[in-house]
Amino acid sequence: MPRPIFFAACSIISCLALLTSAAFDMSRPDNVAMYWGQKSKSSVPLAELCKNPNVNIIPIGFVSNYFPDNSSMKFNMADNCDAEHFACQALEPDIESCQQQGKILLISLGGGDQPTPWQFADKGQAEAFAKLLYNSFLGGNDPKVTRPFGKAVLDGIDIDLENGQSDHFDEMVAAVQAAAKSNGDQKKYWVTGAPQCARPEPHLETALKTVSFDALFVQFYNNDCGLDSHADMSRFNFAAWHDLMQSSGVNKATKLYIGAPANSSEGSHYVDSPVLQKYIEATWANYSSAFGGVMLWDAYGAKANNNYDQQVKKILSAATSKAGATAADMPDAAPDTPTTPTFSALPVDTDSAEATGSLNTAESDSTASPDTSVPSGMSDVLRRYRSPQGHPHEGLARF
Ligand SMILES: *[C@@H]1O[C@H](CO)[C@@H](O)[C@H](O)[C@H]1NC(C)=O
Ligand SMILES: *[C@@H]1O[C@H](CO)[C@@H](O)[C@H](O)[C@H]1NC(C)=O
Ligand SMILES: *[C@@H]1O[C@H](CO)[C@@H](O)[C@H](O)[C@H]1NC(C)=O
Repeated sequence: MPRPIFFAACSIISCLALLTSAAFDMSRPDNVAMYWGQKSKSSVPLAELCKNPNVNIIPIGFVSNYFPDNSSMKFNMADNCDAEHFACQALEPDIESCQQQGKILLISLGGGDQPTPWQFADKGQAEAFAKLLYNSFLGGNDPKVTRPFGKAVLDGIDIDLENGQSDHFDEMVAAVQAAAKSNGDQKKYWVTGAPQCARPEPHLETALKTVSFDALFVQFYNNDCGLDSHADMSRFNFAAWHDLMQSSGVNKATKLYIGAPANSSEGSHYVDSPVLQKYIEATWANYSSAFGGVMLWDAYGAKANNNYDQQVKKILSAATSKAGATAADMPDAAPDTPTTPTFSALPVDTDSAEATGSLNTAESDSTASPDTSVPSGMSDVLRRYRSPQGHPHEGLARF
């Protein structure tokens, strides 16, 4: 009775899986990654984000520093929990619920509010941090290490240094994988990075050439190479990122995302969704196998901006379901055929405000030279919006 048995197996496993939330799929071209954790829980609780069908990847920010001298780390999540004391266990059920709904959640290292530069002096420091990271957020169970999210096991690591240097991060990532292996832990841990679009990258350059990334959320904002509100793509350097990964990347199949501010108050180079659509379509036309989707900073800004993430997901799904590139990118297999999205789309907003002049004057890209490396500390307007005590604009004073 092979057919009925086959059919039964299909009903129980694959067919059921199709009926419930789709599993996360890094190979898709229409994933949305959206940062969460640096503004108030009263604006976007994690449980609310978990129910948002437009979001596939949630980097949680930030572990902003590692202190090798005392094997400790600085963890900050604004008012979402007492991260300073690693007391975020109340989020455990929300994290698990997000994962059950097909999302992956990553612990993000760095961010724009790093008090001191991130620096591993040597392999030993990188490996010591890897053990702390694995036991704190991933599958480790060292009883001496407090797990900030309790039993919840995050799905990987996002490297978003905006201060310091990424030497020895390859050894750190290898040590996380080794710790998992020696623990009998079979879980797939994703590794992503969020570089500035500037070439060379001011903080992640070493990691870009030594770490095997599954995806890079390239920040096309706060830099000359950022998105342009008139869709002038002369400085848009996605091609340089594609070429870099092909020539020097450890994983040639690294997915590349267009990183964008989700709200004009969150960084320079904010563009309205019809403009972002032009970037998505142009990038998809040339790089259909490398293109992975859009990264947004951040969940709070997107909600305040007419659910920008929903507009972006709709555009991504439509753009990438069209036949994509042919010439530039042929050797790879065609991307998976996207399935019909299940969310109900809002009309695309066409009249959002442009990025404000005050933010643009605060950044360093008003000079003529494209792709200038941004001095550390100047490179990220929006990360400085972090508001642990509910003062959403405190960071701006630092400019
Ligand atoms: C570890 O050292 C750092 C830097 O000196 C300090 O800020 C932090 O409070 C220390 N943490 C612990 C747990 O001692
Ligand atoms: C796509 O390729 C064309 C032809 O090489 C080039 O002119 C254009 O700038 C590329 N667009 C993007 C977004 O890379
Ligand atoms: C950005 O967010 C603020 C609230 O923080 C909101 O008032 C504003 O309208 C948003 N900007 C855009 C372009 O939607």
